[in-house]
Amino acid sequence: MDIKQRRLSAILGGLLKLARPYWGWYAVLCALAAVSSFTTVGVAETLRRIINAATDRDSSALASNIGFAVVIVIIDALANFCSVYLAGVLEFKSTARLQVSLLGRLLNVRMKDLDRYHSADLISRVDDSVPVAQQGINQRLVELVGNVMQIVFLFTYLLSLQGFLTLGTLVICLLIPFIMLPFNAKMRGYYIRRQQVETAQQQLIQDTVQGAEVVRAFSLAPKLQGQFTERVKQYLNIHIPLTRIEAVGFNMNFTVILGGILYILGYGGYLVIHGRLDVGAIAAFLIVTEQITNPASRLAMLWTTLQTSLAQGSRLFEVMDLPEERSGAAAEPVQPDDVEAAVGGAMPISLEGVSFGYGEERVLRGVNLTIEPAKVTAFAGPSGGGKSTLLQLLLTSYEPDEGIIRAGGVPLSSIPLKSWRSQIAYVSQEPYLFSGSLYDNILWGAPGASRDEVVRSAQLAGIHDFIMRTPQQYETLIGERGLTLSGGERQRLSIARAFIREPKLLLLDEPTAALDSHNEEIVQHALGELMKGRTTVVIAHRLSTIQNADRIFFLEAGRIAEQGTHQQLMELQGKYYAMVEASLSGSRAAVSSGG
Ligand SMILES: Nc1ncnc2c1ncn2[C@@H]1O[C@H](COP(=O)(O)OP(=O)(O)O)[C@@H](O)[C@H]1O
Ligand SMILES: [Mg+2]
Repeated sequence: MDIKQRRLSAILGGLLKLARPYWGWYAVLCALAAVSSFTTVGVAETLRRIINAATDRDSSALASNIGFAVVIVIIDALANFCSVYLAGVLEFKSTARLQVSLLGRLLNVRMKDLDRYHSADLISRVDDSVPVAQQGINQRLVELVGNVMQIVFLFTYLLSLQGFLTLGTLVICLLIPFIMLPFNAKMRGYYIRRQQVETAQQQLIQDTVQGAEVVRAFSLAPKLQGQFTERVKQYLNIHIPLTRIEAVGFNMNFTVILGGILYILGYGGYLVIHGRLDVGAIAAFLIVTEQITNPASRLAMLWTTLQTSLAQGSRLFEVMDLPEERSGAAAEPVQPDDVEAAVGGAMPISLEGVSFGYGEERVLRGVNLTIEPAKVTAFAGPSGGGKSTLLQLLLTSYEPDEGIIRAGGVPLSSIPLKSWRSQIAYVSQEPYLFSGSLYDNILWGAPGASRDEVVRSAQLAGIHDFIMRTPQQYETLIGERGLTLSGGERQRLSIARAFIREPKLLLLDEPTAALDSHNEEIVQHALGELMKGRTTVVIAHRLSTIQNADRIFFLEAGRIAEQGTHQQLMELQGKYYAMVEASLSGSRAAVSSGG
């Protein structure tokens, strides 16, 4: 409990720190709350005078007090308008700012940490957690100041009217929070669990939408539906008791308020009968009591609502506190000239005793090899052997757990990520295309490039003619409700995106694996253009791509089992030879059964 409490205060502190640019706004909002507390007292007092003027049959006092009331009501309306308006703008601004910084953090954290989250979970942290966490500060804390002020003002006024009668109102104010205490503790637990189930629901919905093809192909609809029904049940199991608790709490509030009003009417009436109180005072008491229950019950709820905000705040900070990529110290101090030479591309890249695992298990185990500049280095081997992982290490998406990767003798960990990545183009089996136009998708490769360069890259990648045949040509939108591209078209678009980067180092991860033989030929041709004169690292499962490589590494279970040229490895008659033989007999079999 103690630890949890401390963590909550840390979250609150963190949120307050993030809200620092808005402290001026909070001060103004608090001042407006003070004005509004003042006018509430003013309204109550003028009301008392109006009623007393009426019972005293004093028409001039009646008129002047009505006039006074009008002025107060106008001031009150203005203050409320400003307060609602400012709070609304503040809400939007501060939430947007926090979302921007959270997204910035997501863009900079280590892939290893990102891998642990489902995408729906991360989306919900930006979309849902940020606004709710921000509300904790914006509304709850400013509200706290306003409510306390209002209660103090109103009580001071009541005490000045009649001390004992104030007891009734005081009982209401004290009883409500007291009654709510046990409810609040219960509700807090429910709120956290409800959030967890909601996230699980979102993940299922996302799987249903994004995996639509698989869902249909494997007839998974009943299974998914069953799971979803189960989640909805879980949600209801949390939501229904929560609603019950909320309803009971709310009604108890109401009963307490009614009791207080009866006390005021009864005891106040008794005082009036005995000439110890004016009638107007009773009206003032009733008005103030009605006004005071709002801030009082809000104060009582404050802890609960703040809990929700803090629960979301902890989800927010969990991501905010993830370490940035490359947060460790550089491996060795290096000269700027050396870095420049290293990213210049004409340098060999060496892996020295590189080991790596996504989790506990090792995926690469003590890999030693050199990638020669301006040559084609190929990786082959069974699936799961660690080929793609090795490429990810070269991309600096992940860092080796052990060993070191050097470019021109300079450790990658000493080269700024941005400079290193700026000279790489990466083409994967399933290229990710962004929602937007065809033009934009090529431009993502080099955001500063000109229109001519975009067109030239498309031509080199062999996709220009296709683009010109689409409805809006380069401006045609792709993705959701846009153009649907075939595998080969997507791949050529991603090759155009690689071309425009003018990369020094080309990383290709089975770029033609998902294509039919016709598309493969077209893409292979485009790739051939792209590879010219560039350091190329290619993972290929087709013989045609691999046999012309300058050097082939056969990677198995995270180790280099064999290396050499195609010729050398065939003569060795080892694992590579066996793989080639198997694939050849496989394709012969395919040919014979097909024909
Ligand atoms: N993002 C990841 N998180 C956890 N494990 C991964 C991840 N990517 C790959 N792996 C695992 O690492 C091993 C090597 O995978 P990979 O490098 O993709 O092999 P290859 O490309 O040779 O088929 C596999 O066991 C795979 O399951
Ligand atoms: Mg792979």
